[in-house]
Amino acid sequence: MMRKFVRKAIFPVGGLGTRFLPATKAMPKEMLPVVDKPLIQYAVEEARAAGIEEFIFVTGRGKSAIEDHFDSNSELKYALLGRGKLDLWGLVEDTILPPGKVAYTRQPEPLGLGHAVWCAMPLIGNEPFAVILADDLIQADTPCLQQMIEAWQDTGGAMVAVMDVPPQHTNRYGIIDYGQQPAGESDRNALVPVAGIVEKPDPASAPSNLAVIGRYILDPSIFTALDAKNRGAGGEIQLTDALAHYIGKIPFHGMRFDGRRFDCGDKVGFIEATLAFALARPEMAAHLRHSLPKLLGGVMPR
Ligand code: G1P
Repeated sequence: MMRKFVRKAIFPVGGLGTRFLPATKAMPKEMLPVVDKPLIQYAVEEARAAGIEEFIFVTGRGKSAIEDHFDSNSELKYALLGRGKLDLWGLVEDTILPPGKVAYTRQPEPLGLGHAVWCAMPLIGNEPFAVILADDLIQADTPCLQQMIEAWQDTGGAMVAVMDVPPQHTNRYGIIDYGQQPAGESDRNALVPVAGIVEKPDPASAPSNLAVIGRYILDPSIFTALDAKNRGAGGEIQLTDALAHYIGKIPFHGMRFDGRRFDCGDKVGFIEATLAFALARPEMAAHLRHSLPKLLGGVMPR
């Protein structure tokens, strides 16, 4: 079978980040660092690992630090190289996206995730593409989008990352209805055919507790649905509502990815992510393992 490619990814980064004020008063929330890398860099690195070649950021006011982050910086380059700090320059060089392969387009008003994706329509054209939400940080041996693109080689169509969430949290996510499956079947199957999808349903009416996490492989036909600009949950133009148009028309799957997801749009989730990523760093792990129990026990480490 011929390999299918996903070459472009959209990064919606227009959100205000009010949950992290005052930190996000003058700094995009996507630039908040987990250990020593901004959240958006994790998203871009995941995309690169999955073979993405073109990076499309849907931005808004006050987000220019993101553009600067992925741009070259000759002042820093010469300063670091002049001092022989090749390792530090290496870290900076890794952040630079290739010329002509990165685009920034603005979402003029915060009309919802569906609208943010719609804003990138002219830059996508007529090919499958990925969407990555940087708030959903995923720690995995094989990056989540790469897992999805591998699985998508067989399925084609559209795919979303999914995971089970506590039933009382369904009103925070897009929730999929995966129809009738024998008990236990869903745990064994990484791929779940999507029979329905609804944005942020109340726990009482949710079709399941299988939630969409911010990784999508989409077919460009989604733009036809987004073009209708229908308002959904919260009065916003929801990506989830447009996704529902795939059902019965093209293959549409949820993929239970292998990895740990952190909700970095939430302060506690962000702190958990920081700890998990720091513990995965050999130069920090030993010290943290020593100091964390003391912090947990209420005793300050010396
Ligand atoms: C968005 C989507 C939602 C999805 C979630 C994943 O919601 O609308 O369907 O489950 O991301 O993080 P948001 O978190 O932007 O409200």
